[in-house]
Amino acid sequence: MADPILTLADVHAGYDGVPVVFGVSLEVLPGELVAVVGANGAGKSTTLRTIAGLNNPLRGSIQFEGKDISRLRPHQTLALGISYVPEGRRLFPKLSVEENLRLGAYTEKSGAEIQRRLDEMMQLFPVLRERSRQTAETLSGGEQQMLAIARGLMSKPRLLMLDEMSLGLMPTLVERMMETVVAVNRSGVTVLLVEQMVQEALEIAHRGYVLQSGRIVQSGPAKELLDSEEIRKAYMGM
Ligand SMILES: Nc1ncnc2c1ncn2[C@@H]1O[C@H](COP(=O)(O)OP(=O)(O)OP(=O)(O)O)[C@@H](O)[C@H]1O
Ligand SMILES: [Mg+2]
Repeated sequence: MADPILTLADVHAGYDGVPVVFGVSLEVLPGELVAVVGANGAGKSTTLRTIAGLNNPLRGSIQFEGKDISRLRPHQTLALGISYVPEGRRLFPKLSVEENLRLGAYTEKSGAEIQRRLDEMMQLFPVLRERSRQTAETLSGGEQQMLAIARGLMSKPRLLMLDEMSLGLMPTLVERMMETVVAVNRSGVTVLLVEQMVQEALEIAHRGYVLQSGRIVQSGPAKELLDSEEIRKAYMGM
């Protein structure tokens, strides 16, 4: 088996020294699509923020491609190849689709390379090509979510972390969003996503972790988690 691209070992994390995540350990293998699922307040966003370097772990370690990244700042984890698409999209509303995309590649100096990535994104998300001159605030919710993912890809990450892509989307759009994530993963990008839409996320993931009150309570192949009586009762209303 290949070495993990990302390893969290006994990570405790929180805010102002108060932990809300207690001893999370998880792995992502190269090429995998891994889902961390759980209810509101379980600590999903805190976990991703801590990997990205927006929070520092209070205890434990985080390794990316064999390097300890536990104490790095966001611009440093980005430089190493980790892209974090936060909850709630955080687009620049008054800038155009294309300008938002360009900002995702701000660390790249070569204009030709940026153009190449823009073309790639417009191919992957044709709707963004049609709307490239439109300001981000005038896009529909689903289009904005596509733009957020595409912007996250503009840095050419080796690990893409997606926080709650389904938020505020109607069910058919959630399905399309999930298909998009699968397409991105198949294009060769390793993906770690967090979702409270447990079933939808596990249906596309290879493996999953269930986070409850800041602790991993179950993990394994996504298919097994989908079949778990406990998870079906707790998260799928069955
Ligand atoms: N900036 C903050 N300062 C203090 N506490 C916070 C902060 N952000 C989150 N928390 C707390 O940390 C806990 C975990 O929150 P987190 O946002 O990680 O959960 P989540 O699983 O992402 O939830 P959701 O599904 O609602 O996005 C919650 O109890 C929350 O109130
Ligand atoms: Mg969250």
